[in-house]
Amino acid sequence: MSNIISGKELSNIILDGLKNKISKIKEKRLPKIAIVQVGDNSASNKYIKHKIKGANNIGMLNEYIKLKEDITQSELELQIKKLNEDTSVDGIIVQLPLPKQINANTINSLIYPSKDADGFNPTTIGNVVLNNTDIYPATPSGIIKLLEWKNINLVGSNVVIIGRSNIVGKPLANILINKSATVTICNTKTRNLEEIATNADILISAAGSANLINKNFINKNTVVIDVGANFIDGHYCGDVNFSEVGEIVKYITPVPGGVGPMTIACLLENVYKLYLKNN
Ligand code: GUN
Repeated sequence: MSNIISGKELSNIILDGLKNKISKIKEKRLPKIAIVQVGDNSASNKYIKHKIKGANNIGMLNEYIKLKEDITQSELELQIKKLNEDTSVDGIIVQLPLPKQINANTINSLIYPSKDADGFNPTTIGNVVLNNTDIYPATPSGIIKLLEWKNINLVGSNVVIIGRSNIVGKPLANILINKSATVTICNTKTRNLEEIATNADILISAAGSANLINKNFINKNTVVIDVGANFIDGHYCGDVNFSEVGEIVKYITPVPGGVGPMTIACLLENVYKLYLKNN
């Protein structure tokens, strides 16, 4: 039996479910996502292409707003306010990273929680911490679904997360705490990182550091979730040295085809949930 957890496979199941639900909508209005990009970051271009393709494939409306790199904070805020008031839009995302003249926290705070498809608004994050929402940031949501799909026990399990970002590490830790996991949040500067990681039942690497995870970080029972999305010499890879640890561990997500497609599916699922709440 393979130890690969295929995000491609599970994301297709989720997307097929969404497509089926959207095809049955009788109301005139279909769910719609607005995607805002500032500038021309090449990784963002690629991610947005996947998001638009995913939306089109399931029959979800989408509006792609690409703004110039040197836009001011107040111009961008005006754009968000317009989308907040646009009753045809169910979910808004502002692709990160943003240029340095823009305060991303302020922008995410402006998005109405009722349209917060990424789950980066402080109210949404607060509700994640309080276990008071079914809208989770898309990448953490995808990781939880992958673990639950494979019936991997969370209650009482030792979960080690490497990476403390607002997008992945912090929300994911809180979701796992609410599911009664024992969570350790590390970063690449954590002392004794290998020793801490080796004791994990579930090791989640969201450090953005290619080949960080080698055989010194794992044991034969480790479940490895690779959230890394690194471009090295034009080659896309995760944080895990897959050829070194892939055959040793209990389960592992590949890159590509692991967490990445789950992020897209869970983002679109969030938009559909917001549509249901707002309609
Ligand atoms: N940049 C990297 N990941 C994400 C994400 O999930 N959402 C947004 N908006 N930007 C990102």
